[in-house]
Amino acid sequence: MSIEFKGRVAIVTGAGGGLGKQHALALAARGAKVVVNDLGGDVHGVGGSVSAAQAVVDEIRAAGGEAIANGASVTDFEAVQNMVKQAMEAWGRVDILVNNAGILRDKSFAKMELADFKLVMDVHVMGAVHCTKAVWPIMQAQNYGRVVMTTSSSGLYGNFGQANYGAAKMALAGLMQTLSIEGEKHNIRVNALAPTAATRMTEGLMPEQVLKALEPSAVVPAMLVMASEDAPNRTILCAGAGGFEAAQITLTQGVYLGVGPDTPERLAAALAQVTDLTSALVPKAGSEQGALEVGKAMKAHGA
Ligand code: NAI
Repeated sequence: MSIEFKGRVAIVTGAGGGLGKQHALALAARGAKVVVNDLGGDVHGVGGSVSAAQAVVDEIRAAGGEAIANGASVTDFEAVQNMVKQAMEAWGRVDILVNNAGILRDKSFAKMELADFKLVMDVHVMGAVHCTKAVWPIMQAQNYGRVVMTTSSSGLYGNFGQANYGAAKMALAGLMQTLSIEGEKHNIRVNALAPTAATRMTEGLMPEQVLKALEPSAVVPAMLVMASEDAPNRTILCAGAGGFEAAQITLTQGVYLGVGPDTPERLAAALAQVTDLTSALVPKAGSEQGALEVGKAMKAHGA
């Protein structure tokens, strides 16, 4: 079954280079009309020019595809709304949004300025919120939408020097969890991509040989599946160097200890059992945690 995007309109943010560029090229090659967005700044988010996005548009058009360039910063909601208007005026719909734009401001937490924390949160989290908010009513009205958030192993599992980036990337997983529930009845599927790729963002972080294996285009299949007609919903797909995995937010079976004066001590003694992954589940919604806990209490009280 081939994955095609004929008649579909996609917006890819931060698509002037790195992973976003590969996403845009691949969507266009498979028939999508693509808004190539990029602020055109450096890896820290400084400066800006639409020329990076325009170069990708030129490449798509030269290959016979359709694309338009947009230089909006995803941090500016008005500019994002104008970008969506640009897509609607050109093509009348928006089917796919790939929230990919991002920056780094790495430092250990002790040395990190709050301004660098806030900016990273703003670009990754509010950037994705702005873009998704602007396309959401259109996707609801169409009864069709595919949204991909770009999370990261740094958010899912942590990474030294990336407290700001990790917090932002985990926030995107949280955003995905709720939007996938809210979008379901409108056929809007929301998923997250955790890539590993050699881009300017990872320059100097890994040996040359490893970076070579991590070509950005190797991540693209995971995005294409999540942007496709048969996309899953509420999945975190990890991808890099041709390998693919899924990250899950699990809930262990835990224990029932009841409520008493010595519960803290008994909990401390039972931590290994509480954190034991045997029979862990992946809840379909947050309410399942409460249901599990109340269920244990009812059982203990013979209810
Ligand atoms: P990159 O730096 O090559 O690409 C990011 C793009 O976003 C740049 O073209 C930049 O100009 C654009 N951008 C930055 N701020 C923007 C804004 N306010 N508005 C619009 N565009 C803006 O880096 P890369 O690696 O391609 O990153 C793409 C995404 O993948 C990012 O969200 C990043 O956090 C994520 N990621 C990358 C990993 C990797 O191994 N390269 C690992 C995990 C996540």
